[in-house]
Amino acid sequence: MFAARQSDTIRFLKSWAEDPLRVAAVAPSSASLAREITREVDPACGPVIELGPGTGVFTRALLARGVAERDLVLVEMDAPFRALLAARHPAAAVLDLDATRLAGAARALAGRPAGAVVSGLPLLAMGTIRQMRVLRGAFDLLAPGAAMYQFTYGPRCPVPGPILRRLGLAAHRIGGTLRNLPPAAVWRFRRLDESVTRGALSLA
Ligand SMILES: C[S@@+](CC[C@H](N)C(=O)[O-])C[C@H]1O[C@@H](n2cnc3c(N)ncnc32)[C@H](O)[C@@H]1O
Repeated sequence: MFAARQSDTIRFLKSWAEDPLRVAAVAPSSASLAREITREVDPACGPVIELGPGTGVFTRALLARGVAERDLVLVEMDAPFRALLAARHPAAAVLDLDATRLAGAARALAGRPAGAVVSGLPLLAMGTIRQMRVLRGAFDLLAPGAAMYQFTYGPRCPVPGPILRRLGLAAHRIGGTLRNLPPAAVWRFRRLDESVTRGALSLA
């Protein structure tokens, strides 16, 4: 267990050294953050799309919540991370896909809408246009009422208010943890009309 975690940290550091902007962290997220970002996801959600799983900390938390491995669609641009994920989670769909082109994940869902999107992408570093592509693509694949979850190291919502309004989305900070380096917050995005219905409206 300790050895696996150590080798994941080394793998992470290598990927970061190769592409610091894309990986955007020198070590995997903590188990505490993984629990926070996955705590609203359950097996009844159906298929779950994970964006930027890296070494799979959030993937393991999703499995611990009872999501079936075959219901996981893992979208990852880094080849060594993909190899590691495919070896550890043989029933999951591991896609070599840029998360800004999420339409490419539709086939892995086999016609079913996704029940949740859990994102480890460095959204803050991606810039407005790419952020919009990720969010549009995610909500094109999400079932009505379903949500996307994103963590951030910043004090505010990682997606600016004007972009949320333009996409018809509402953002709500649902939690955070100090037990992560650096400390992180978790945000939930939903379609605006659905957030109003649920009484959870909060625009960043
Ligand atoms: C900050 S790391 C998070 C990894 C993991 N979720 C965690 O929390 O430990 C960002 C991950 O997103 C991946 N990534 C970055 N941009 C991406 C993109 N456009 N499409 C797919 N994956 C991307 C990186 O390769 C990396 O695995």
